[in-house]
Amino acid sequence: MCGIVGYLGEKDTKEILLSGLKELEYRGYDSAGIAVLQDGNFNSYKAVGKLVNLEEKTKDFVTDKFAAGIGHTRWATHGKPTELNAHPHVGQSSYVVHNGIIENYATLKKELTSEGVKFLSQTDTEVIVHQFEKNLKKSDSAFEAFTKTVSELEGAYAILLVTKSEDKTIFFAKNGSPMLVGINEENEKYFASSDTPLIGRCSDVNYFEDGDYGFVTKNQLAIFNKKNAKVEPKFTKLSTNKLSAQKDGHRFFMEKEIYEQSTVISDTLLGRLRDSQVLFDEIESSLFDGINEIKLCACGTSYHSALSASYMFERYAKIKTSVEVASEFRYREPVMTQDTLFVVISQSGETADTLETLKMAKRNNLKTLVICNVDNSSMVRLADASILTRAGVEKGVASTKAFATQVTVFWMLSLYVAKLKNSLADAEIARQIKLLRQVPASVKVTDDRHERIKRLSKRYLHGHGFFFIGRDVFFPLALEGALKLKEISYLHAEGYPSGEMKHGPIALADPELFTIALLPQHLLYEKAKSNVEELSARDSTICVISPIVFDKADDFIQTGNHEDYMLEFFEMMVVVQLLSLEISVRLGNDVDMPRNLAKSVTVE
Ligand code: G6P
Repeated sequence: MCGIVGYLGEKDTKEILLSGLKELEYRGYDSAGIAVLQDGNFNSYKAVGKLVNLEEKTKDFVTDKFAAGIGHTRWATHGKPTELNAHPHVGQSSYVVHNGIIENYATLKKELTSEGVKFLSQTDTEVIVHQFEKNLKKSDSAFEAFTKTVSELEGAYAILLVTKSEDKTIFFAKNGSPMLVGINEENEKYFASSDTPLIGRCSDVNYFEDGDYGFVTKNQLAIFNKKNAKVEPKFTKLSTNKLSAQKDGHRFFMEKEIYEQSTVISDTLLGRLRDSQVLFDEIESSLFDGINEIKLCACGTSYHSALSASYMFERYAKIKTSVEVASEFRYREPVMTQDTLFVVISQSGETADTLETLKMAKRNNLKTLVICNVDNSSMVRLADASILTRAGVEKGVASTKAFATQVTVFWMLSLYVAKLKNSLADAEIARQIKLLRQVPASVKVTDDRHERIKRLSKRYLHGHGFFFIGRDVFFPLALEGALKLKEISYLHAEGYPSGEMKHGPIALADPELFTIALLPQHLLYEKAKSNVEELSARDSTICVISPIVFDKADDFIQTGNHEDYMLEFFEMMVVVQLLSLEISVRLGNDVDMPRNLAKSVTVE
């Protein structure tokens, strides 16, 4: 989730790149950099932290003539957020910026290193520029070398490259990560990862398709597709509304983030799946040596993903797992044994309660792991090991895509541990990896689905309370559904295990009690169905979410026919998120900044 910009033209290149990066800062902001080629010479600047640091560093740098410039704002995936790891990455006479992940970077890097190439950074990106320069030595032109380089890359990328060997050109390639090019009557060329930096600067834009690559010069825009055929650009008029462009045209950041889940889950899976094996480059398998128990600790939404993880760790990895609310754990004088792996989960990596439990675990000499969305956050710095969720910046206070990527990581991690402990056969791990690859498709929001939920939401604006109910791993999802509704609609909602309703809460059942029932077909369907029937018999108003038609429900949202309950989990997750969103919109609330809440709670 980095942001990239590029500019070729005669105006103030530095100003254009920096203001473009400012617009993209929401995509990532742990470091930033630019490289500008004018008069055959390069100037490059990088700075860690927010963009103001880069602005400060470049304040005396003047760009007042024709130039080719590229810039990048980084959201670390490979390597810490340091200046060396910041983009642009340099070779002998070329610079590159990249958004995405080069899956085969380790193989390429090994080869290049054995040929004497010295790497400066820990990033996957740096291989691109060295591979390009290696190819350049054997090519007739820079474009030939660039084409060859692109064909050698596996993974997701949006790339811009500038080189002294053709100093009035910018080379580009796009596969799986967004990028567009804009033009105007002054023959300028603008590149960016999203519309916003281009608004007000160009009139027409072309959104690249996966597999597109090519180059721009002052008078040319040459695009080739994945079959190496030259294609004409498909220009569209650029919108003029910046905020709407930042939200990708969505009404709220939360809505955008719900829609983005498919992409960020793909990013989270990238490079981590093999046929019958999950890989996490960032951790050593020895982390699990001598471990007999996993303890998960978190707050809010992250706590719910931890709860869902406990089902997967016990079911797949056959390892004893417990989950704790961080604010409780801190003060209850828990027994901590050294055969326990202590895992904290946090979107921000800064939540005070969670951070404190991590410190407790460290003081007790436990091995520690953090699942986090922000590299270099306090928790990432403190824990022995970390796995990043790659959800990108989450702006909506009510967490959606961070939760989705956390559950994805936990599913992968439970298979990783299952392999280490031999608790699942390779064939079963391979089957589940195939399922994991289907998750991005299962969370795609269709117009029909969204429209249906929007219509239905009008019936759920009052009442004396909501119960979200589910069994097994759908219980944490029920908790998360209820939390979403509470956070943004201010209606009272509880998540409850379906089978537990009869032990008390059923006393509340009447037509003004709304039950949102999660009824997956592949996990305890009959059992959960009976629980819903008990509520239906007591006249609670019921909305069933299930692939199987349920005639005793007042409302019904039909989900797809997936082959496994975890895919049902992900699809239902989107349904409950959208339902909360639409109820909140109808109630006229501030969806992205609900009252009394903060995105990151760094106090007790
Ligand atoms: C706050 C936010 C929640 C979030 C929780 C934990 O309460 O409002 O949305 O789930 O903190 O945050 P973390 O960054 O640790 O996941």
